Amino acid sequence: MTTPAGHVYVSRLLTDGAMERLRRLDRPLRVGGEDPPTRDELAAGFTGACAAVVTLTERVDAGILDTAGDGLRVVANVAVGYDNIDVAAAHAAGVTVTNTPGVLDNATADHTFALILAVTRRVVDGDRFLRSRRPWIWGPRMLTGLDVSAGATLGILGYGRIGRAVARRARAFDMTVLATSRRRTSGADGDVRFVDTDTLLADSDVVCVLTPLTPETRHLIDGAALDRMKSTAYLVNTARGGVVDESALIDALRAGRIGGAALDVFENEPHVNPALLDAPNLVLTPHIASAGEATRDAMGVLAVDNVAAVLAGRPALTPVR
Ligand code: GLV
Repeated sequence: MTTPAGHVYVSRLLTDGAMERLRRLDRPLRVGGEDPPTRDELAAGFTGACAAVVTLTERVDAGILDTAGDGLRVVANVAVGYDNIDVAAAHAAGVTVTNTPGVLDNATADHTFALILAVTRRVVDGDRFLRSRRPWIWGPRMLTGLDVSAGATLGILGYGRIGRAVARRARAFDMTVLATSRRRTSGADGDVRFVDTDTLLADSDVVCVLTPLTPETRHLIDGAALDRMKSTAYLVNTARGGVVDESALIDALRAGRIGGAALDVFENEPHVNPALLDAPNLVLTPHIASAGEATRDAMGVLAVDNVAAVLAGRPALTPVR
């Protein structure tokens, strides 16, 4: 196969390791800046490109794919989630779409656990309390939280690679682990028991959202789902904001209908609903679950390796089907 003409468009500056890997492609490159491109800049970058490396902040829809022209072979997302890309439109245009599964499982599971502990053991409350400079002294009733490793039950909504990595960590904390999976609604994977969503919501002390955002999972956690949770339970979302109905969560937190929540992702990123900023018992981080230094490098390198494979006429390493 002849090497396709056109440049490789990279929508945002990637980490050093990924930029180095890009240069080794030995192809004309057009690289964006630190900030996401505007839609016009994105369209201009795609025009005449044979490959595009994009991040989850870029919405690659049919219109953007059209601007690329016939030479576009591959869109490589630097993320495991790919709800920002119209995969059906890409496939219809003969364009391969790739994502970055596997390389971010541990970093994302680590951050999920950091949030579980931060919200259940009131780490952020404690930090805020001290910074308020109020006089204090140790007290038996002060800032108590959930005893995670005294038999608490963790519910993993979405038992994929990251879900399994979270379950491994939960084992070290002696937690009972329930999970939902598209493939299984009963049985077990070792000591992880598969249940339906309602059972998981009702029986868990901590519910972790780890499912991709699809039309089926949008607002999976709505008011009714939150009502099914124990009044002492916590919700942790490190997947995609749209899986949780933020307004319903704000109502539940304000009314004390659940124990608390921790969110790394939001419905309308980068906009964060101001009511979340004032909601009680809520820990927030700005979509950094995969932000280990080596992990972010590995994600960028895998995206570029996917581009290299497709441009060389080989199958992509991690195609989205
Ligand atoms: C990050 O959110 C990812 O999908 O990789």
